[in-house]
Amino acid sequence: MTNIVDIKQLHRSFGGPAVLDGIDLKIAPGEFVALLGRSGSGKSTLLRVLSGLDTAPAQKLVIPQRRSVVFQEPRLLPWKTVIENTALGVRGGDAQSLARQALADVGLAHRLDAWPLTLSGGEAQRAALARALVREPELLLLDEPFAALDALTRIKMHGLVFDLWRKHHPAVLLVTHDVWEAVALADRILVLDRGRFIREIRVDIDHPRRRGDPQTSSIETELLGELGVEPSHA
Ligand SMILES: Nc1ncnc2c1ncn2[C@@H]1O[C@H](COP(=O)(O)OP(=O)(O)OP(=O)(O)O)[C@@H](O)[C@H]1O
Ligand SMILES: [Mg+2]
Repeated sequence: MTNIVDIKQLHRSFGGPAVLDGIDLKIAPGEFVALLGRSGSGKSTLLRVLSGLDTAPAQKLVIPQRRSVVFQEPRLLPWKTVIENTALGVRGGDAQSLARQALADVGLAHRLDAWPLTLSGGEAQRAALARALVREPELLLLDEPFAALDALTRIKMHGLVFDLWRKHHPAVLLVTHDVWEAVALADRILVLDRGRFIREIRVDIDHPRRRGDPQTSSIETELLGELGVEPSHA
């Protein structure tokens, strides 16, 4: 199958040392990839290039036309209602009914006419997810979308993202600091360090994955080691 992302030798720097130092990355259609790395390792820089928000020199840079991004903060327009914000994601077609369906998918059917500032953090991130998915992206880029949420809401969001991925089946690149989030969700996990991938792990474990079983634990421990974290401090 043709990869929908195919990048060779991507470089990015901001005047100083390279932030992305010759990245190669391929992502298959519908594949769920998690990206881990310490703060400042270049994760958001890579996502910005993949989203088209930033440009950078590369030997090869194939990215799909239909792609969406969700950031750590929801970035909803405060002067538009939830359904109006969601409909912004649609190009052509019946924006209203597609937006209504997307909001139902994320459990916000009862908040269509709400103002963004009246939403909880979790609701606002669900609205941001609906806006991202409404255009049926081939590539969904998620930059720590749950980092600002409380632990319980975050666990619920894992389930939601997984269900949405199963339903819409975009390729996903999820940036996260949460090693368990990566192990719970991803087909493949990449670790970025100083602008290079230092580790790639395929996660061939059926869903739902259980935290603490020997298979998931050994991957978690290995990743924490790569990130320089003692498991007892995770
Ligand atoms: N627009 C910019 N101008 C100058 N330096 C930048 C710019 N964007 C990123 N950098 C630098 O590039 C490096 C990588 O930043 P990036 O935001 O990609 O890290 P990150 O892995 O996403 O970190 P975090 O986990 O903290 O979000 C950092 O040293 C940062 O200061
Ligand atoms: Mg970042």
